[in-house]
Amino acid sequence: MKKVFIETYGCQMNVYDTELIRGILAQHGDVAFVDDEASADVVLLNTCAIRENAHVKVYNRLEQLKPRKRKGKLKAIGILGCMAQSLRKSLPDDEPMVDIFAGPDAYKRLPSMLELAVGEDAQATDFSLSEYETYSDVAPSRIPGVNAWIAIMRGCDNFCTFCVVPYTRGRERSRTLQSVVDEAREAVQSGYKQITLLGQNVNSYRTEGHDFADLMAALGELRGLERVRFTSPHPKDFPLRLLEVMGRYENLCKHIHLPLQSGSDSVLERMNRTYTREEYLSLVAQIRATLPGVSLTTDAICGFCGESEADFDETYQVMQQVGFDAAFIFKYSERNQTVASRKYADDVPEGIKTERVMRLNALQRRVSLARNRLEIGTEHRVLVERASKKNEHDWFARADHFKGVVFSSHDAQPGDIVRVRIDEAYSNTLRGTELPG
Ligand code: 5AD
Ligand code: SF4
Repeated sequence: MKKVFIETYGCQMNVYDTELIRGILAQHGDVAFVDDEASADVVLLNTCAIRENAHVKVYNRLEQLKPRKRKGKLKAIGILGCMAQSLRKSLPDDEPMVDIFAGPDAYKRLPSMLELAVGEDAQATDFSLSEYETYSDVAPSRIPGVNAWIAIMRGCDNFCTFCVVPYTRGRERSRTLQSVVDEAREAVQSGYKQITLLGQNVNSYRTEGHDFADLMAALGELRGLERVRFTSPHPKDFPLRLLEVMGRYENLCKHIHLPLQSGSDSVLERMNRTYTREEYLSLVAQIRATLPGVSLTTDAICGFCGESEADFDETYQVMQQVGFDAAFIFKYSERNQTVASRKYADDVPEGIKTERVMRLNALQRRVSLARNRLEIGTEHRVLVERASKKNEHDWFARADHFKGVVFSSHDAQPGDIVRVRIDEAYSNTLRGTELPG
């Protein structure tokens, strides 16, 4: 029996992939999953490549693991996922103490790779990318909780010039509608109250005559499924019909994460985002007109190649104008293989990138606080996720529109839906009181 510890870095897709990996390894017997590396024979790092700091975290982790490997207490170390795929040409030679390297489409080979690595002390590598692999036939071994992740598609064909994902996860491919609905039904039967659909661009989901709006409508009809979330749509092809479907079903959450990346047309063009600032703004107007009360969140990058102060100002203005409920703001990090790394100079100085991130974050904190204050006095049905870390009897829950709400209760449980009234607002949480019934 091999004791396996899997550590996950990066996005929700990686969290789901870890559940698939657990499912694949469990099917082959002779493994037990453990919660810490101290008792593990095998440590698998499911890695991310989106920004350089994702790599740095993994290198640091490797240095911590190597002493136990040298002493023979750890039998194998594996690097899986996007960083392995991105550095496939150099990593196996650079890291001779790592035994297993597997890209995101190679997980079905992990049981045999593990045998090889543990039994013969040889490096096992598989970096093949597939046009077909969707892991639809693998039952994920889910981490207990209220939310079940479900990848509805894999890969990405957008080729935003800054992004490494098309190179780490390969071509875009969708699962069948039926396989997603079946997986959602099984998740509901296992007690999950919410599912979150994952894809690099859910709006390009296509299968046997069905699109993403059809999938959402099918999930809207699924009995016992309290909440459906999804991430992320691309602003270039957001159909009105999807908004109408979201409006029709109560269990389809009224929250849209709509990555802006930049508010400057010339930067958007260099990023190959294929929409303009005006198109983005009119999409936001259409979303708000069709789904009143919807919450909007976004991603933005500061300091992309050639971003001038005037370009940055435009991003600042769009963020101010839209008034997102929350935003993730990143410093541009040049990635291997991408079009930007080949075509454009990474010419915004580090200090300016940092300063722009700080200015946008400061703006966003004010905007989030102002938007959260509008919630004071309103009532929400919130889904309880977990006990709050700070106070006994405090619970952390989320409202339909994704905002976190802390409230106090003696008998709440994760998975409960509770009515609360919002009393206090901060920039990243709300505080409420439980209402009867
Ligand atoms: N540098 C900085 N941020 C990036 N993102 C993607 N690639 C990069 C990069 N090279 C950000 C985008 C994306 C989010 C998941 O990560 O904002 O939406
Ligand atoms: Fe997820 Fe992208 Fe990181 Fe891969 S590179 S783990 S797809 S965020």
